[in-house]
Amino acid sequence: MKHLLSFEDVTTDELKALLDNAIALKKAHRAGQDPKTLKDKVVALVFEKSSTRTRVSFETGIYHLGGQAVVVTSSGSQIARGEPTEDTARVMGRYCDMIMVRTFGQEVVEKYAKYAGVPIINGLTDLVHPCQLLADLMTLKEHGLDLATMAVAWIGDGNNMANSWIESAGHLGFKLTLAVPEGYEPDAAILARARARGNKQINIVHSPKEAAKEADVVTTDVWASMGQEAEKAKRAQDFKGFIVDEELLKVAKSGVKVLHCLPAHRGEEIAASVIESHPEIFDEAENRLHAQKQLMIWLMENR
Ligand code: CP
Repeated sequence: MKHLLSFEDVTTDELKALLDNAIALKKAHRAGQDPKTLKDKVVALVFEKSSTRTRVSFETGIYHLGGQAVVVTSSGSQIARGEPTEDTARVMGRYCDMIMVRTFGQEVVEKYAKYAGVPIINGLTDLVHPCQLLADLMTLKEHGLDLATMAVAWIGDGNNMANSWIESAGHLGFKLTLAVPEGYEPDAAILARARARGNKQINIVHSPKEAAKEADVVTTDVWASMGQEAEKAKRAQDFKGFIVDEELLKVAKSGVKVLHCLPAHRGEEIAASVIESHPEIFDEAENRLHAQKQLMIWLMENR
């Protein structure tokens, strides 16, 4: 049985096929030809953190594929009461055919995978956000970038998104330069594994301009992720100068693509004018739907 807890769960060929098939599925959807892979199937969506895009895109995608979504939030369930994940997972696995989990620790999705007996999708943990990267990579491919040779600049926190970018670079071989403030470096083990796959072009720097120089893609995320609200003021100080604005984009390649997983804090990590002049950010948000539909089809095929 396959899961998607991180990009460690896919081979490079499987990742490439997921992206190609997601693009084909988007076309099929627009032609009114969605496969009904989830007919008579139920997918549970567990949210221990808030969401707009993940929740709506999964619920919509499950509907397109003929299935039924059941949303479980921690506050309205026994999760907040402290029921052990091992028990929640075993019970939900007896009702449902697949489970998506958005939570804090990576160990939680690992427990679901160990105990539920059905495919598990990581809908964001503190460590990685693979569903978002499927959409991001799909968007860049649709916009004509070569995922093997492009140069990507990550500007900001070495957070779950940065870690998933590193995993992606490990698989696909593109140049990835991450500009992070000192003390906000991405996960060292993920970085080592990506480099061990043979990509010698993944580098950490502390200057946004150095990262963005000649980049094909510039991407960022909020300075304080969910669960880090208490650090907001300190982070605002530490991340000064790490804004993606027109000034920074001047050093990137002409026609640079800008991505942001959203929601954004306009005027903090990204200028409002950059969001408004880079509609690919909304293609990226839309592609959560198509990429995750393809992911669910692939997981059903590999049960
Ligand atoms: N990008 C993302 O995961 O958005 P949500 O938090 O709205 O799901």
